[in-house]
Amino acid sequence: MNGLNKSKLPHIGTNIFSKMSLMSAQFNAINLSQGYPDFDTDPELINLSKKYLNLGFHQYAPMQGVLKLRKAISEKHFQLYGKYYDEEEEITITSGATQAIFTTISAFINKDDEVIIFSPSYDCYEPAVTLNKGKSIFIELESPNFKVDWQKVELSISSKTKMIIINNPHNPSGSIFSHQDLLDLEIIAEKYNLLVLSDEVYEHLVYDGKSHFSVCQYANLFKRSIATFSFGKTFHITGWRLGYVLAPKDLMIEIRKVHQFNVFSCNHPLQLAISDYIEKEENFLKLNDFYQQKRDLFLEIIAASRFESVPCKGTYFQLLNYSKISKISDNEMAENLIKINGVASIPVSGFSFSKIDEKNLRFCFAKKEETLKRAGDILIKI
Ligand SMILES: Cc1ncc(COP(=O)(O)O)c(C=O)c1O
Repeated sequence: MNGLNKSKLPHIGTNIFSKMSLMSAQFNAINLSQGYPDFDTDPELINLSKKYLNLGFHQYAPMQGVLKLRKAISEKHFQLYGKYYDEEEEITITSGATQAIFTTISAFINKDDEVIIFSPSYDCYEPAVTLNKGKSIFIELESPNFKVDWQKVELSISSKTKMIIINNPHNPSGSIFSHQDLLDLEIIAEKYNLLVLSDEVYEHLVYDGKSHFSVCQYANLFKRSIATFSFGKTFHITGWRLGYVLAPKDLMIEIRKVHQFNVFSCNHPLQLAISDYIEKEENFLKLNDFYQQKRDLFLEIIAASRFESVPCKGTYFQLLNYSKISKISDNEMAENLIKINGVASIPVSGFSFSKIDEKNLRFCFAKKEETLKRAGDILIKI
């Protein structure tokens, strides 16, 4: 092609999730790799989607999202975090958190702007920064607790730093930010005038009686933060590709400028279905217990194995450390587990930009009890 197809992302191949899921299917393994449930979506939500399809909502939704849904989100955030987001100007419905994140980064990051990203991390942040000609500055979090060292963060800030991306609760480690973490972040963001992109897609998955702290609860963070959420994660509908972004008006104006040319608007009948479903607060308040039971079951079974674990505090991912079992790389270990033992996981080095390998594998426990038991029975024999 005479260089016409010169890659803007030469370092990016097929992501680790697609790779492990494909291999899992090839070897008919139990798939605890990718982060999605293997149980059914609530029939009530499916019926609501049918209702709105039958009522004829087949044309474009409003660019910023269905108003009823934005109102429901505004109420939910006020109820959970005591912070009011204006449904007209501070909430936009997106095609999943992925689009919310891409759109936000595109709206604010210019050539040579530096963006702080923790590593390991979910994989969609860095490519968005790179495509906008920004520079990602990675800060490594260490196993097994993956706690942020805020002094280290401060030391990595330069005159070019424009944004810091946090993910709380954190994929892949399952760690959560404490109140003190958010206070530390607030001081740093204020001192260096940074934007904060806060990926909170697992806000409802926090265990052991702990609370999720959102950036909107801290006045000096709220005014400079963009927070992203996922209906896919919350309501077991990752395939519907719906989520949302919250930001104060002056930031949202810029986000919407990009959003309207990115997707214009998102799936209309499904937004309406969710707008009814989300009105029942138990539909999201029950999630903590629901997933904690699954985490506890998985850990109970794994306790009899040679894997070591620190119980995750949030998300639906549990890391298992295999240092006592083998010295091979986490990639090789994950591949062997699929090919020889029939259980798929994700090697954590796949989330690390320096490919740091601390012998951790990530297992998704958003699965039926029987799936977790079958996988657990295999893992305890290794
Ligand atoms: C931390 C994190 N952020 C964002 C996403 C993407 O969410 P969505 O499916 O709504 O695009 C995921 C999906 O796995 C995730 O784990």
